[in-house]
This record gives sequence, structure tokens and C-alpha cells, in this order.
Amino acid sequence: MRKVKNKSGEKSTIRKLLGHFSSKKRTLLLVIVCTAMWGLVWSITPYITGLAFDVIYDSLEHHEIANPKILFYVLLLTFIALSGFLAQGLAFFFVGNLHQDIFKKLREEVFDSLQRQSHKYFGEHSTGEIISRSTSDIGIVTNFFFAIPINGTLMISEFTVLLSLLFSINLLIGIVCVLFLPIMWFTTRHFKKNFWPLYFDARKQIGMLNKVIQENIAGAIVSRVFDAREKDLTRFDKDNSQYRDFMIKAHKYGAAVWPQMLLIGGIMVSIVILLGGTLVMNNDMNMTAGLLIASIMLSGRLFVPINHITRLGVVLGQGQALGTRIFEVIENIPVIIDDPGAINLPDDGKGEIKFEDVSFGYKKEPVLEGITLSIPAGSTLALLGGTGSGKSSLINLIPRFYDVTKGAVKIDGVDVRNLKLESIRKKIGFCDQETFLFSRKIGENIAFGNPLATKEEIVQVAKVSQIHEFVESLPNGYNTIIGERGITLSGGQRQRLSIARALLADPLIVIFDDALSSVDVKTERKIQDALEALLENRTTIFITQRLSTIKFTDWIVIMDKGTIAEQGTHTDLLSKNGIYKRLFETQIDGVLDLEIIEEVEDET
Ligand SMILES: Nc1ncnc2c1ncn2[C@@H]1O[C@H](COP(=O)(O)OP(=O)(O)OP(=O)(O)O)[C@@H](O)[C@H]1O
Ligand SMILES: [Mg+2]
Repeated sequence: MRKVKNKSGEKSTIRKLLGHFSSKKRTLLLVIVCTAMWGLVWSITPYITGLAFDVIYDSLEHHEIANPKILFYVLLLTFIALSGFLAQGLAFFFVGNLHQDIFKKLREEVFDSLQRQSHKYFGEHSTGEIISRSTSDIGIVTNFFFAIPINGTLMISEFTVLLSLLFSINLLIGIVCVLFLPIMWFTTRHFKKNFWPLYFDARKQIGMLNKVIQENIAGAIVSRVFDAREKDLTRFDKDNSQYRDFMIKAHKYGAAVWPQMLLIGGIMVSIVILLGGTLVMNNDMNMTAGLLIASIMLSGRLFVPINHITRLGVVLGQGQALGTRIFEVIENIPVIIDDPGAINLPDDGKGEIKFEDVSFGYKKEPVLEGITLSIPAGSTLALLGGTGSGKSSLINLIPRFYDVTKGAVKIDGVDVRNLKLESIRKKIGFCDQETFLFSRKIGENIAFGNPLATKEEIVQVAKVSQIHEFVESLPNGYNTIIGERGITLSGGQRQRLSIARALLADPLIVIFDDALSSVDVKTERKIQDALEALLENRTTIFITQRLSTIKFTDWIVIMDKGTIAEQGTHTDLLSKNGIYKRLFETQIDGVLDLEIIEEVEDET
């Protein structure tokens, strides 16, 4: 069996996320240019305001009624405000496109990978986990594609402009401000260090809550039958309270960070006022009242780029944690893929199946051991055996849902591992033990494996499966939607639709895994009678617990604890006095009773 390779870790998750920008380089450049412009405009405004203030102050001192310079500053500030408005609008527009395009691409990558995964993957990962990775995790991770260009660019342009201006106004003021930056940074770091672990715990807790809700809905009937309401409520309450406690604790850190930032900012601005004020009072040539106002406003804005750093820290943290979960899905190499030299199953294949000394296990423990079995092309085989004896596991090896651990499974003499997966699966009609139907129209469900089928072909297989009359009785017939938005079907009706679906794919090999178990014996017989003509020249395997099915088969195989215990025709096996004989004796009464009932019904 091929090993599951997981490439994640070869390249860091953040680098992989950054790599997703590469297909959108032009849009990214536009976002950066517009955002840099926005940062520049936002940071320069206090300085221009300070200069304007000096002009007004000057005019007042010289008793000038109108100074054209004031108009110049008014126009300049209006122009700056308009540029800021435009730059910000465009930055959001471009980043919106960029963010949504990458979001879509990631969803596609995850979905594409899931489509290729083997049965083993779905056995090892719960539906809830897969869904949360492919929806909410991606949603959160894509904040990265918004924050990196926006907050990253803003941070750089704001720091550059604010600090350059502060230094150009006064060296000492510039130095004081720079010295305060690490203090602000440590405040947010402290918050980050304590808040995020709690936030992630809370997210896990939300996952638990969702699981409880999901199981409660799925198992609603079981829950009611066993009157587990009280127990369910207690369980839910425990998880719910735990979530609340995590969030309260997390927000305590959040609540402390802002007052701390304001306090530190306040102290810094006071020092700037003290330094700048002293210079103004001493009539320093290079420090005017306007420049003092500008430096107060500029230093007061310094916490904003610090905030961008915090935001970047958040998205990098989320990107690392949740991105890893997403790339685990995207990069998981399916266990079962086409071998490089794989060939197509020929169109004129006969459908002979051979198991040659096959052993198999899902994990270490073997589930099948030393199975050697030959199913001639066009024959019908019945596979019987107790629950857990390995019947489903055995037939799962034919379409290569799993690979053997020893031996070989061959179709028409070719090892399935040397055949192209698509070509094998196209030739196999599979009625799974757990009937799954899509929330689509009945007609579409039947034609799932053969979307080009005509209405006549769909009706023909529906008739064979004894479901046609029922479908016709529905107001929308074959256009009736199944599932949450449509009708609910009984177990037997679902099985019959699944038989129709398997037959319509025009398979060379047909496998029914307990596909008639929910159908009453009388309908089963009708289906089998109708199937007889259709199954001619197709290799058919019936897994069944009912001996009534066996009447129509050429060969019977009895499985026990992963091995073939007995095989032969009905008569052979009866004479052997083994498992089959005992099974026959326990079931025969029931079958006889039924035959009597049927005869009585037919007579009346
Ligand atoms: N996906 C799986 N992962 C691990 N073990 C599995 C898996 N599916 C089945 N098994 C185990 O393999 C053994 C054989 O199971 P299998 O489903 O083949 O039995 P079966 O004969 O089809 O039974 P039933 O009549 O109940 O359908 C069982 O012990 C079962 O627990
Ligand atoms: Mg089974």
C-alpha cells in the first residue's frame, strides 16, 4: 500500500499563503500603491494643519484681514482629503477583489483535493472536521490576504511619514517618540500572548458545541426514544458555559489593552508638549506654535501603526494555525491513485473477477486473509456471512476503494492496480450498504453515473427496480427533489433508487451490498425477476443475509472472520452440513411462512 505523504512542513505555511498572491501580482501592486497613498495622506494631514495654524497665527499677529496663504492651505487640505478618500476607496475595491479571488481559489483547492481523496481519508476524518476546515477555517485564513497588503502597507507608510516628520520638526521629540514605541509594542504583545491561546481554546470549544448540536439533530429520534433530554442539556450546558468562560477571560485581556495604550500615549504626548512647549516659550527659531501642534497630533497618531502590527500578528497567527489545517487537506496525497503505466479496462472487457491469495486490513489487524476466489464473467455470485465477516471489505477491493495488503485482485486478468481508476469505476455499478442520495431531483439521482441518459432509459431502470410506479405517483414525478428541500423516502425506496442508479451506468460488473435488505421479500422477488434479463452478461455479486436472494445465483460464498468458510452451489452446500446448512435451517421457516402468505395473497 502506498504511504500517505504529507508535504506540509516542507515549506512554511505563511510562505505558502504568501505564494497565493503570485497569481494576483498586478492587483496586489494596485492595492499597495493606493494604500501607501492613503497612509501618506492620513499621516501628513496633522503637519499641514500645523503649517496652516502658523499662517493664521502670523496673520493675527500682523493684523492681516485676509492672507492668500490661508486659502492655499484650505485648498491643499481639501485636496489631501479628497486624495485620501479616493486612495482608500480604491484600496478597498482592489483588495476586495484580491481577497475574494484567493478565497475562491482556496475553496477550489480544498474541494478538488477532497474529490480525489480515497475511502481511507474519509474513514479517518469526521465530516464535521472536514466541513470546518473547508469553510470556516478558510474564511478566517483569508483575512490574511486582506490584512497583509492593507495593514502591512499602512504600517510602513504611516511609520515612515510620522517619524520622518517628527524628526524633521525636532530631533529630541523624534527620539522620545521612538523610545516610546517598544513600550507600546510590549503592551500589545502582552495582550497577544494571553488573548490568542484563549481565543483558540474558545474556537475549539465552539467546535465541541457544534458537534453536540449536530449529533443532537442527527440523533434526535434516538435521543427522544431514550428520553435523554436532561442528559443532552447538561452536556450542552457544560460546553456552553466553558465557551463563555474562555471568552470572558480572553476579553479581560482585550479590555485592559486599550486603557494601557491610552495611558502610554498620554504620557508620550505630555513629554512632547513639555519639550516642544519649552522650545516655543524660548522663541526657538525652529519650533513654532503650529509645529508644536503638529508634533502633538503626529505623536498621538503613532499608536495606529502599532495597531497594524498587532493586526498583522493576529492574521499571521491565524494563518499559521488554520492555514496548516487547510494545507493538510490540499496537500494530502490520496493513497490510491493511478499508477504511471496504468491502462484502461478495454471496452470489450468481459468482467471476470479474480481474488488471488488476498489479504487486507484497514489498520494493522487483518480483516481479510488468504482469499482466493474466481468469479467467471457474466456469472452471479452470492456472498453471505455474519456481520463483520468482511463481505463489504472484500467487494470494496474490486473498484479499488482500498488496496490489498497482499495478493492481487484482477479484472479480466489485469491487476486492478495496473488499471486506470476511472476506467474500473465506470464499469462497476455499485449499490452501497448505506444508500446515499443527493438533494437533487429523483431523475438526476438515477442518472448520476450517466448524466446523458434519456428519460426512457431512466424509466426502464426505475421499472426494473420497482420504483417507477411510486415516482410516477408523486406530483412532480422524476422532478421531485429528495432530501431536506424535498420529499423524504423510506429505506426501501432509497435502496430501489440506488439500484436504478447502479443499473443506469450500464456496468460490466454489478455489486449489491445488502441492497435489498429494506425491501420486502415480495418486491425483492419482483426486482430479481426484472433484473434477470438486465444482468445477463454482467458479472453480479449479491451480498445478502437473506437466503431468498440466493435462489437466483450461480455460486454461493460464505465468509467467516475474514476468510472463505464454504463455497459451492445451493445443493453442494446443503450436503456439506456446515454454516450454510445451519443458516438455511434458521431462515427457512420464515421463508416458507412468507411463501404461504404470498400464495394466499395471490389467490385472493
Ligand atoms: N472503514 C473501516 N475502518 C476500519 N475498520 C473497518 C472499516 N470498515 C470495516 N471495518 C472492520 O472490518 C471488519 C469487516 O467489516 P465489513 O464491513 O467488511 O463486514 P461485513 O461482512 O460487510 O458486515 P455487515 O454484514 O455488518 O455489513 C469489521 O471488523 C469492521 O469493524
Ligand atoms: Mg457490510
